[in-house]
Amino acid sequence: MPPPYRIRVVEPIPFLSAEQRRQALAEAGYNPFNLRSDQITVDLLSDSGTGATSIAQEAAAALGDESYAGARSWFRFRDEVADLTGYPHLLPVHQGRAGERILFSSLLKPGQLCLSNTHFDTTHANVEIVGAQARDLPCPEAADLDSTEPFKGNIDLVALERTLAGPDGPRVGLVLMTITNNGLGAQPVSMANLEAVQALCGRFGVPFFLDAARFAENAWLVAQREPGYAGWTPRQIASKAFQLADGCLISLKKDGLTPIGGLLGLRDDDLFARCEANLIATEGFSTYGGLAGRDLERLAQGLREVVDPVYLAARAGQTARFAGMLNDVGVATVQPAGIHAVYLNAGRLLPHLSPAEFPGHSLGCQMYLDGGIRSAELGSLYLGTLDEHNRLVGPAPFELVRLAIPRRVYTEEHFAYVADVLAEIAKEPERIRGYRIVAAPPLLRHFKVRLAPL
Ligand code: F0G
Repeated sequence: MPPPYRIRVVEPIPFLSAEQRRQALAEAGYNPFNLRSDQITVDLLSDSGTGATSIAQEAAAALGDESYAGARSWFRFRDEVADLTGYPHLLPVHQGRAGERILFSSLLKPGQLCLSNTHFDTTHANVEIVGAQARDLPCPEAADLDSTEPFKGNIDLVALERTLAGPDGPRVGLVLMTITNNGLGAQPVSMANLEAVQALCGRFGVPFFLDAARFAENAWLVAQREPGYAGWTPRQIASKAFQLADGCLISLKKDGLTPIGGLLGLRDDDLFARCEANLIATEGFSTYGGLAGRDLERLAQGLREVVDPVYLAARAGQTARFAGMLNDVGVATVQPAGIHAVYLNAGRLLPHLSPAEFPGHSLGCQMYLDGGIRSAELGSLYLGTLDEHNRLVGPAPFELVRLAIPRRVYTEEHFAYVADVLAEIAKEPERIRGYRIVAAPPLLRHFKVRLAPL
């Protein structure tokens, strides 16, 4: 099936010469976050806020009510989200990490533990900023990048129970399930896993939240892969997932189909009161939370469009075909294909580079040098441990490169182009050199690190 939309407004993309790209990357300190968007031909850095809006969303935006309090747009957004999630308390925030900051500072105490299938980077940082500790407990199947197990995003239930029942149990302040698991190959979490987490959290009296940035994509993969859900709509599956948890954080820049927005959903009255006070002091009044009325309108409409099975089928198909093109030219990707991104196994493509030479980063830089393609490293540059001279002393478990796929933005030709660039790289991978770190900040290193070629 073709995509369920046609394109009516277009944005030109630049094509730089190889020399211009070489210069741009050097000036950026070999960090793709420092590139300008007008230096990039195909931008696969993130699927966050980078999607295309629809005519219905833009028409709704024109109705945006910018009243300081009690705006019509808030009620339209609130009713849509209440219907989807079932949470009695909803707080709008300008993006996901604002919700993280508000929730963690209201819920977690210094010394407590937050357990997750995998924390996203800002989520991890926000847990640690309040003096708590973020601990990932991914399921063992996730460690085999080639395995086609359907739910490699799951949490390790044995490890979760052991932690809750063990000496660290009383310190656990929150269990947070990320759907889909962005840090580990965009793999989905099964409903059975969420139900088991709910039961364990109930038994041990620990709050259970969802980090649901890609709730619709997770629901789609559940409908395709989990026994018992074949006849369910994505919206029904998503609603059930929200009902299992005590609350949610959502970055609506992903499955909200908008450039900006986020949400905190809660059941507990006292926690809500604390979060609301924090929201009003730091983000904005409870009926806009840092968003414009027109953003809330786009979101209310986007949340309907994102659970459309035709849209989800087309998007999942686009990603699966893209992963297939890359596998066909000899580039291994994390299996099975997820939806919001394809994860390249750079460690396997570049075995001549040690983790300390940052193979994922080297592959990402080469894709930019050869084709103007921007990607994100998810390997030792992002996750590894450095010594005081910025030398790698503890490598990451995998050396991956994430090619994130903006929603409704690129066509099959763009993906074929990326596959061509990677095919050329895969013919002669040993020509790729490694990198060393020149300067690195202590927190959220990958955003601001500067490097030099070896
Ligand atoms: N949680 C998850 C699972 C995410 O993927 C992100 C953002 C956030 C929270 C934070 O939300 O950006 O709105 O503040 N992920 C983007 C990405 C940035 O590229 O994966 P935010």
